[in-house]
Amino acid sequence: MLKVEAINVGYGALQVLWEVSVEVGEGELVSVIGPNGAGKTTLIKTIVGLLRPRANHGSRGGGRITFRGRRIDGLAPEKIVRQGIAVVPEGARVFPEMTVLDNLKIGAAVPRARTRQARSLAEVFALFPRLEERIAQPARTLSGGERQMLAIGRALMACPDLLLLDEPSLGLQPTLVKGIMDTIRRINERGITVFLIEQNIHFSLRMSHRGYVLEHGRVVLEGKGSELLGNPHVRLSYLGV
Ligand SMILES: Nc1ncnc2c1ncn2[C@@H]1O[C@H](COP(=O)(O)OP(=O)(O)OP(=O)(O)O)[C@@H](O)[C@H]1O
Ligand SMILES: [Mg+2]
Repeated sequence: MLKVEAINVGYGALQVLWEVSVEVGEGELVSVIGPNGAGKTTLIKTIVGLLRPRANHGSRGGGRITFRGRRIDGLAPEKIVRQGIAVVPEGARVFPEMTVLDNLKIGAAVPRARTRQARSLAEVFALFPRLEERIAQPARTLSGGERQMLAIGRALMACPDLLLLDEPSLGLQPTLVKGIMDTIRRINERGITVFLIEQNIHFSLRMSHRGYVLEHGRVVLEGKGSELLGNPHVRLSYLGV
């Protein structure tokens, strides 16, 4: 479904991603783990068109990104969203002065989602009853966990076929982390393909079909979620055991 092939990405003179390749199949839940500064957010930003892969850097050319066989690298972010890709950005950014309901409605502003808005809203409230209770509240008054729910809800309002999440459990207490992870698993079970960046690898790798380890901008390991969870390097570096 999504194919990232040998991309090089950076900021000015700083190169962050080096020949990075990842693949996400239709219906899969795929995780990426890696230390701070490894380039995980950079990878997500490149997939959604906020950053561009470098052309002809290094010996193997510029690399490419395809979604359902069509090239998307170089397209504007709104064109990428229209093809059915939605993102929950790092830090659960929502519009603070807007209500919960208006934040959700903004998510449904793409053509493919507009006519399904009422049904999507009901689905989001079924996943996150707390949001329905806070429908008229400005987003800035939400707790961190609720804001994360809102960010996920807003992405779902776009009726995506592929959902990208950048550390959705960041800053949440352990009990909430499990809840958010369960919700992501349920979203995937409903048929939405998921590409998840997540540091809580106990949860993320266990529920993932496959995973990648990104270190210093390079994919250093890939495999089934359960295999990676048992890998000695992963255990030592990410679990400290
Ligand atoms: N706008 C920017 N300008 C310059 N350098 C940047 C910019 N954004 C990120 N970087 C650098 O790129 C590298 C990778 O950053 P990135 O945010 O992709 O890492 P990450 O894996 O998401 O880390 P974290 O786990 O802390 O979120 C870092 O060294 C960072 O300082
Ligand atoms: Mg990041």
